[in-house]
Amino acid sequence: MIVLGIETSCDDTAAAVLDGPRLLSSIVSSQDAVHGPYGGIVPELASRHHLVNVLAVLHAALEQAGIGIDAVEGIAVTRGPGLIGSLLVGLSTAKGIAFRRGIPMVGVNHLEGHLLAIFLEREIEFPYVALLVSGGHTSLHLAEGPGRYRRLGATRDDAAGEAFDKAAKMLGLGFPGGRVIDRLARDGDRTAIRFPRAVVRGAKYDFSFSGLKTALREFLRREHGFAAGAQAPSLSASALGDIAASFQEAVVDMLAVPALAAADELGVPRIVVSGGVSANSRLRGRLHDDARRLGMAAYVPSPKLCTDNAAMIAYAGARRLANRERDPLTLNAVASLPL
Ligand code: KG4
Ligand code: ZN
Repeated sequence: MIVLGIETSCDDTAAAVLDGPRLLSSIVSSQDAVHGPYGGIVPELASRHHLVNVLAVLHAALEQAGIGIDAVEGIAVTRGPGLIGSLLVGLSTAKGIAFRRGIPMVGVNHLEGHLLAIFLEREIEFPYVALLVSGGHTSLHLAEGPGRYRRLGATRDDAAGEAFDKAAKMLGLGFPGGRVIDRLARDGDRTAIRFPRAVVRGAKYDFSFSGLKTALREFLRREHGFAAGAQAPSLSASALGDIAASFQEAVVDMLAVPALAAADELGVPRIVVSGGVSANSRLRGRLHDDARRLGMAAYVPSPKLCTDNAAMIAYAGARRLANRERDPLTLNAVASLPL
């Protein structure tokens, strides 16, 4: 079955074509340049740019797949969670095509897309512990089977990607900043500054990153005369590298330790990581090494499947379309759709 996937939950406009197990195309149009000057995503601008870009992205995905719209047999579209205005652009587009062409459409949970993205590259066995780390989400799940996910914990405040982005903003590195911190950290000493690692008492699989953010701000004020609200401090390359590496190490510790503990405690020897932050080289390295030491395996999709994309949405929807499931064209988007 040829499935068209559409994803517009946040700030990336994405479309992909999946033919059975074969990914024929995947196009992602980033809005980083639109939101960069604001240091964060502006929801109203995001939906407006989805509207401008969505048809061009769809056409590009069909062209890369070498098919026309008439060859598409089903549509999978993200219906939540995400920014409501953004979600509605993708969902309305999907409905229009499904209605005009008389083909089935299914709404997909964005988080399920991330959890299943690994299957586009390899088969793995259920159950597995899934660590989902992006700019908007940070949570830990037990994936028991397709469509069967148990939430083990989640962040109490910021998402891990948000922590990276806010740190980058404080350091004057632009938005989004995760990738820049990752790159700077390679030349830094990760033991240079001992940032705190938060543990949520009584909820060992929950996360908290807001204290780390405050610790970084305090460190910059104390050591580098940084004043809140002012321009980012000018730092030497070596100081910046040490701060990036030490900050990153704290985030990686706070993610890797509970994920490995959950896998160990549940007796599940497989961990799958996904979401934009799983592109982080230190997180990937640490999970692979630590998992191997504990007799487990860690799986991380390649970076283009970690960040937001429509291939994972097409994949999650294709399973349901193949079971002859479909959603009505009255389907609505849900900003806080649980998994
Ligand atoms: O999954 P994603 O593309 O979008 C959301 O659904 O949020 O994730 C984007 C997030 C951003 O916060 C970005 O800074 C972070 O992923 N990110 C990284 C890296 N690449 C992207 N964080 C740390 N290290 C990276 N290499
Ligand atoms: Zn995402």
